[in-house]
Amino acid sequence: MDRFEIKGGNRLAGRLTIKGSKNAALPLMCAVLLTDKPFVLRDVPELADLSNMERLLRELGVSVTREIAEDIDSPGGVLRMQTVDETLSHARYDIVRTMRASISTLGPMLARRGHARVSLPGGCAIGERPVDIHLRGLTALGADIIVDQGDIIAKVPLAHGKPGRLKGARVFLGGPFGSTVLGTANVMSAATLAEGTTIIECAACEPEIVDLANMLNAMGARITGHGSPRITIEGVRELKGVDHRVIADRIEAGTYMCAAAITAGDITLDNCPVDALMAHMDRLHHMGVTMQWDAKADPMRATCRIKASRLLKPIEVTTQPHPGFPTDLQAQLMAVLCLAEGNSVITERIFTERFLHVAELGRMGAQLYRQGSTVIVSGVRKLTPAPVMASDLRASACLILAGLAAEGNGPTVINRVYHLDRGYEKMELRLQSLGADVVRINEREEATLAPGVA
Ligand code: EPU
Repeated sequence: MDRFEIKGGNRLAGRLTIKGSKNAALPLMCAVLLTDKPFVLRDVPELADLSNMERLLRELGVSVTREIAEDIDSPGGVLRMQTVDETLSHARYDIVRTMRASISTLGPMLARRGHARVSLPGGCAIGERPVDIHLRGLTALGADIIVDQGDIIAKVPLAHGKPGRLKGARVFLGGPFGSTVLGTANVMSAATLAEGTTIIECAACEPEIVDLANMLNAMGARITGHGSPRITIEGVRELKGVDHRVIADRIEAGTYMCAAAITAGDITLDNCPVDALMAHMDRLHHMGVTMQWDAKADPMRATCRIKASRLLKPIEVTTQPHPGFPTDLQAQLMAVLCLAEGNSVITERIFTERFLHVAELGRMGAQLYRQGSTVIVSGVRKLTPAPVMASDLRASACLILAGLAAEGNGPTVINRVYHLDRGYEKMELRLQSLGADVVRINEREEATLAPGVA
């Protein structure tokens, strides 16, 4: 297992290109199951989650080749895929347990093949994460769904003894925490091949859903209203292939904005989706961070300069579905607020238990008081280095940010960075290019090099 060692205190400065979005790429990749035509995705980052999705799609009869981008500062590589065998429709627990987004294969497989078997994802480090709304949506489109031996088994009933099609319907996808992003992706993807019109009410408005709908439309789907809570899909008989560029990763961009804020840095981000980051940038602005971008450029691929001083003001922030403040940036912003001048209040309304980073930040000298889904962050003068670990992707990013600012004896050691590798490509190299003193240590190599070890 790799770890990072960081000597904090450097002001980060320089320029980075934001990678393609992990959370957009995952459901986009699954849409290959909706067609047997060639399917190309560009700006695909090199991430563990995406390699796992590649492995899963191969098991489901998809041929996949990947061209890796040589340049570390490119937005990502190219994935060329094509469905070659539609008889393999079992997404096994072995892979699903490593990556919850495997559930996104369910809707596309069901719509095109008439049946699918997908292992039911279990709980994960950030909470329970049920998939009941996905299943409710697909059932409303006419699927028969049961859970057997831990697998979701979904079938489209036969019509007059022949393979049937899903049927368009009005589907409500709201739950206790708002809509569901991957649930919307699943139902919307399935509805593209359904007979008749589907209307999704309380659809997720996230930019990743807009990207998916745009790509599906380029494949011949008829989707309107994406980006709003009501999406209408007129079903078509089949979809063609596509060559699509994945949107830039708003969470990666937001994380590097936090890196500028916590180090009083000056970072310029290219390919920055400012349009998808308004809530985050609003909070940073209220903290005293300045952000400038060209208003005439494509707001999903802008160049944005982020400058911060040592003086950060405290704020209140509540996570919400898009366009509210994203839960995927809650942990990172908390790290920054640890150094603000006063008390901040953070409330988590999407994953109410997503606070694995709180106790670890405490080990670095942060003053945090949690009450249910709210954390009061009482700003301190400095954070101090410590060994820490987190078993969640964004919590790991939070601890790295804290490490960049921590000054004292020894480095901050962040263990188990494989969680980080699920969502941030080569983060240590990207931070080094901005002037951070961070190294990745591979424990296996270290053991081989250690004196006296055979
Ligand atoms: N929910 C239900 N029932 C469902 C589905 C969701 O109750 O059937 C609840 C969830 O438990 C949660 C809320 O609804 O409280 C929202 O969950 P959602 O379904 O929107 O989450 P998701 O689609 O599984 C995606 C991202 C997450 C991100 C959330 C929220 C991907 C691959 N994952 O998950 O990203 O936090 O949306 O924005 O797109 C991450 O990148 O670190 C990450 C966890």
